[in-house]
Amino acid sequence: MKINNICCIGAGYVGGPTMSIIAQKCPDIKVTVVDLNEQRIALWNDADVNNIPIYEPGLSDIVAEARGRNLFFSTNVEKAIDEAQMIFISVNTPTKTYGLGKGMAADLKYIELCARQIASIAKDNKIVVEKSTLPVRTAEAIKNILDNTGNGVQFQILSNPEFLAEGTAVTDLLNPDRVLIGGDNTPEGAEAINALVEVYANWVPEKQILTTNLWSSELSKLTANAFLAQRVSSINAMSELCEKTGADVSEVARAIGMDSRIGSKFLKASVGFGGSCFQKDILNLVYIAKSYGLNEVADYWEQVIIMNDHQKRRFASSIVTTLYNTVSDKKIAFLGWAFKKDTNDTRESAAIYVADYLLNEQAKISVFDPQVKENKVLNDLNYLESRSSDLNQKGITVVEDPYEACKGAHAIAILTEWDEFKEYDWQKIYDNMQKPAFVFDGRNILDAKKMAGYGFIFQSVGSSN
Ligand code: UDX
Ligand code: UDX
Ligand code: ADP
Repeated sequence: MKINNICCIGAGYVGGPTMSIIAQKCPDIKVTVVDLNEQRIALWNDADVNNIPIYEPGLSDIVAEARGRNLFFSTNVEKAIDEAQMIFISVNTPTKTYGLGKGMAADLKYIELCARQIASIAKDNKIVVEKSTLPVRTAEAIKNILDNTGNGVQFQILSNPEFLAEGTAVTDLLNPDRVLIGGDNTPEGAEAINALVEVYANWVPEKQILTTNLWSSELSKLTANAFLAQRVSSINAMSELCEKTGADVSEVARAIGMDSRIGSKFLKASVGFGGSCFQKDILNLVYIAKSYGLNEVADYWEQVIIMNDHQKRRFASSIVTTLYNTVSDKKIAFLGWAFKKDTNDTRESAAIYVADYLLNEQAKISVFDPQVKENKVLNDLNYLESRSSDLNQKGITVVEDPYEACKGAHAIAILTEWDEFKEYDWQKIYDNMQKPAFVFDGRNILDAKKMAGYGFIFQSVGSSN
């Protein structure tokens, strides 16, 4: 079957960039991205492509090229489903905040809603593709809903997890290490898999397109994120030991990374990992393991999260102890709020938890992030429900100029590794701060010797300098 009409439900960090690249690389396929959120769709359609709601280097050029040609953004979910041969589900699957599995299991209500909507609208056979990260065996639930509430048409379910990382979405999509497609072991399943392979084959070499059964594909996504997060927690665990022993975690990471069995990536010690995937997916894995009675498996992976929580808390508490055991009414400048550089996404960012800790200690926080606006910072804090939104607003200010954020501060904390932070006039920043002036580099991006040369008392992660 040749695909010429695709619909994607969910115009977020995954659906938006992925569909933009498919549209760019497959001019013969009409791609419609739909979302219930009218404001989000309006921004995707904004005449000025720089206003698209997701910041990713290179993305606006691709949207400019394909939008209106074969790439469309719309709130008309029904029409797009009706017309499409292949429907990607790319809606959010947050950790449940209520009921059974609260704080661990993935909340699948948005997925179920999509399945029900597809079932009620579809008047011809459809291929439904899971793009969102889902617990293993979700396809079974989707299939049940489709088959039991549909209009008698045939559905094939595929799992095609997204491995792009935010901040590098465009290059990751253009040159993926691999594309993974899982489907049913039946002739109809094979046909559906082939239809999707042909879409990717427009720009991905076929030997990099892996096909598996549905459950392997679903579980591989959770496994990949668990392994990546585990590397960060492992190196962060070593960072604390380095600080005590005079070893330097960057040197240790370099030394072990040159072992080809270990490899050099994902060994940067930091204030802790964030993002919408790692924590959520590991919690989900832990929950699944528990639900099968596999308590040792669950405990093994849960330790990755425990280590990450510890790293965030450790960073925050070290600020307090270093500032003579009190930050009450002291101004602390935060450089960075996003969970990593080159994205405006702040979900699960370490900055939120460090801020929460320091607000409990009555610090006054002043935030600068090149891509994050005030309302997002406040929403992130309010979401924790640690104190009233009034108190959050009193404790934290968000400014548009890094020098203003640092002016008069007792300490600066670097929470995100934005490149521009390295280029600042650090002497000028030092001159305008309270003395002694402290810098806590949670991303190890600044040079310890240079910073000491300007006069700072400087601390990074994983070395005693
Ligand atoms: C190890 C280190 O690899 C080596 O660098 C160090 O100098 C000494 O310790 P060794 O113990 O000889 O070497 O073997 P290694 O190949 O690391 O395997 C260790 C164990 O892990 C073996 O029992 C091996 O069967 C097992 N293993 C290894 C697996 O079960 N799966 C794997 O993927 C790799
Ligand atoms: C991740 C996976 O990489 C991606 O394949 C999956 O599809 C979605 O989840 P993402 O969350 O966008 O992508 O970012 P990633 O680059 O993986 O970083 C996650 C977090 O780990 C960030 O907070 C980052 O700063 C942190 N990190 C990463 C480190 O602290 N040290 C490292 O060495 C690498
Ligand atoms: P991700 O990082 O997984 O892309 P986002 O939250 O950025 O997550 O994007 C998911 C999008 O899916 C949101 O914009 C949300 O409005 C949209 N969405 C959720 N449920 C539905 C639905 N039933 N129909 C259409 N859009 C939906």
